[in-house]
Amino acid sequence: MLQLYDLKKSYGKTQALDGVSLNVSQGEILVVMGPSGCGKSTLIRCINRLTEPDSGEIFFKGKSVVDMSPEKLLRFRRRVGFVFQHFNLIQRLTVKENVMFGPVLSGMDSKQAEIRALEALNKVGLSENRDSLPRELSGGQQQRVGIARALALNPEIMLLDEPTASLDPILVGEVLDVMEDLARSTRATMIIVTHEVSFALKVADRIILMDHGKTVEEGIPTEIFAQPQSEIGKKYKRLLVA
Ligand SMILES: Nc1ncnc2c1ncn2[C@@H]1O[C@H](COP(=O)(O)OP(=O)(O)O)[C@@H](O)[C@H]1O
Ligand SMILES: [Mg+2]
Repeated sequence: MLQLYDLKKSYGKTQALDGVSLNVSQGEILVVMGPSGCGKSTLIRCINRLTEPDSGEIFFKGKSVVDMSPEKLLRFRRRVGFVFQHFNLIQRLTVKENVMFGPVLSGMDSKQAEIRALEALNKVGLSENRDSLPRELSGGQQQRVGIARALALNPEIMLLDEPTASLDPILVGEVLDVMEDLARSTRATMIIVTHEVSFALKVADRIILMDHGKTVEEGIPTEIFAQPQSEIGKKYKRLLVA
């Protein structure tokens, strides 16, 4: 459903993406791993052009995303759920209002959007917190709101950029559990950037490793770390046996 061809992106002299090609199938859970600065966020943000690639092609269900007009791009983004590392919740809105925001923006009437929001909050186990403000929640709960907000759009694909990276270690688990549950219960297509190796091994259909703006290794969880060829793959393998 998603094809990337030779995506490139530079920031000045930094080559953040150095020719990445990737195919993602409908319903696939793809995990992207790699050291900090290797281009993971750039890659995932290029998919819905939150970051504009310099060159390359992106096809979503056969349509070029690179060629979309601004209006088409806005409509496309509503089909893509994006979960950010730093939650990006609107602090003056309640949990429910944060989750309703997307559907309302895309033209849904508020009653309908409220139903959608409550369904999404239910999926992440936060129905009871619907009227709280973000600051009244723990980091883990805030990120679950971030996930509910993405879900409320009924997205065709979910992109999650290190959703647990800014959480205390004790709060990581609840967010990983919600993500695992989603991956198993919905058959959403998901691309998840994460450093959580055991989560990746458990939930991914396929894992790709990036280094210096390129994909350097890819495989299914049971095989990817068996005989890694890349330096990064070898490092992850050492982490696993340690
Ligand atoms: N907006 C930006 N301006 C300048 N450099 C950037 C910007 N975003 C990313 N970079 C650089 O591009 C490289 C890849 O970054 P990023 O995609 O965020 O990596 P990752 O998500 O894997 O940590 C890094 O060297 C980073 O410093
Ligand atoms: Mg990043």
